[in-house]
Amino acid sequence: MLAASELMTSIQRAAALISSKTRICILTGAGISAESGIPTFRDKQTGLWAQYRAEDLASPDAFARDPKMVWSWYQWRRQQVHDKTPNPAHRALAEWQQLAETRGQSFTLITQNVDDLHEQAGSQATHLHGHLWRNRCSQCATPYAMTANVEGKKDKSSLNFSEDLIHCPQCDSYIRPDIVWFGEALPVEAWAQAENAASQCDVFLSIGTSSLVYPAAGLAQLAQQNGATLIEINPNPTPNTFVDITLAEKAGLVLPTLINQLSA
Ligand code: OAD
Repeated sequence: MLAASELMTSIQRAAALISSKTRICILTGAGISAESGIPTFRDKQTGLWAQYRAEDLASPDAFARDPKMVWSWYQWRRQQVHDKTPNPAHRALAEWQQLAETRGQSFTLITQNVDDLHEQAGSQATHLHGHLWRNRCSQCATPYAMTANVEGKKDKSSLNFSEDLIHCPQCDSYIRPDIVWFGEALPVEAWAQAENAASQCDVFLSIGTSSLVYPAAGLAQLAQQNGATLIEINPNPTPNTFVDITLAEKAGLVLPTLINQLSA
């Protein structure tokens, strides 16, 4: 953690730099939702992968082996997440998206998160790893509406946390969450948008991600190779050693201060 005055100086430096740029690209990870009460994946002790084995729960093989266990785990996650609301970091990004529009800056928000807190805060986000509130058939991929509306936001009126497996009305195979699992390809359109925005931006912010999971983690390098300045917001160090400005504090503290500076 930085001393308060040192952090403020770094935030002011970041704000000055961002104000001079026209194309902003942001990648968020589980850390941005941590202050809303949603556990991250890799934080020691509290992270989901500190308590569960990812290969038992987040892979097509795991679902083929034990669909009931995987479905039950995601239904438990839905129960854990359904009442969570955006924190000051999500709200600051939504405010920034609007501010950027009024200033003629392009602003692309990409997230690895499967929650809908960016949308709840009023942002438009490209989801690289799918949506917790959407389902689809594990075989024919037909979407199965149960807990989400068309935008992927949870539909409160139809929340259902039953652990019973559901069969696809089209082909009778099991319904699964519409989430990208280990070993699966990212959604083509979302990835194309992300690559495009990262390669064309002039400032790239990496917020609340351990930068360990590829291909998402490669977006920062892609941006830098194409001349962008990199800013990272994360209280803990990451493998990104090539960052220009590190703001080593919680996103819920840094982002509202940064937006205040940008609006001034
Ligand atoms: P991780 O759990 O790997 O990393 C979370 C990061 O957030 C860590 O680097 C923390 O230091 C940081 N962090 C924690 N609290 C924070 C806060 N208040 N403000 C800012 N940063 C904070 O999560 P991701 O990098 O998102 O995949 O993980 C990437 C992917 O791995 C996830 O999308 C998920 C997972 O397996 C799928 O579900 C497909």
